[in-house]
Amino acid sequence: MKKTALFYWPKKGNVASCALKIEAQFEKDNIDTNTIKAIDEYDLNDYSLIIVGGSTVGADHWEKATKNNFWHSFFTKIKQANHTGKPIAIFGLGDQILYPDHFVDGMKLIKDEIEGCGARLIGKWPTEGYEFTNSDSIEDNMFLGLALDEDQQPELTDERIKNWVQQIKEEAAL
Ligand SMILES: Cc1cc2nc3c(=O)[nH]c(=O)nc-3n(C[C@H](O)[C@H](O)[C@H](O)COP(=O)(O)O)c2cc1C
Repeated sequence: MKKTALFYWPKKGNVASCALKIEAQFEKDNIDTNTIKAIDEYDLNDYSLIIVGGSTVGADHWEKATKNNFWHSFFTKIKQANHTGKPIAIFGLGDQILYPDHFVDGMKLIKDEIEGCGARLIGKWPTEGYEFTNSDSIEDNMFLGLALDEDQQPELTDERIKNWVQQIKEEAAL
């Protein structure tokens, strides 16, 4: 069965509400959605696509995050399984007006952690329609995953999610 696992953090807030909107674009039986904290309950081999979402809340937080908290154990678990060729897609929340030099930087941190496990990153997203000056999460003029801005462009979120999910389903051949 072609199932998708969607993991997100933090538990409450914009990432969580967007995760639920992404989940709603799949048939209920075809997707399991949970926080990154629940990773131990999953056998990742059961899934044909993994989606990971987070927000950017500053480098300090991430450093702490990768050392002591749930992101650290999440990435460790992800790296334990063999994901050779498995599609993984990232979405990231940010605020392009308040943090124009670091817009959605967090997606790059997620990408750097997961790329060692042989997964295939899908769901790259155009930078058109956003206003910012810099982002670590851009390669070849594309975001590494879906950039969402609930602070400045909440009205665009639903359409972006709809189009992105359509895209990743095609790229993952679901
Ligand atoms: C302390 C703090 C630092 C932030 N730093 C960034 C940043 O560097 N880049 C960015 O794009 N957004 C930044 N943001 C904005 C958040 O990523 C954005 O509000 C996001 O929607 C929060 O999602 P959450 O409610 O799930 O945590 C920051 C927010 C806070 C509170």
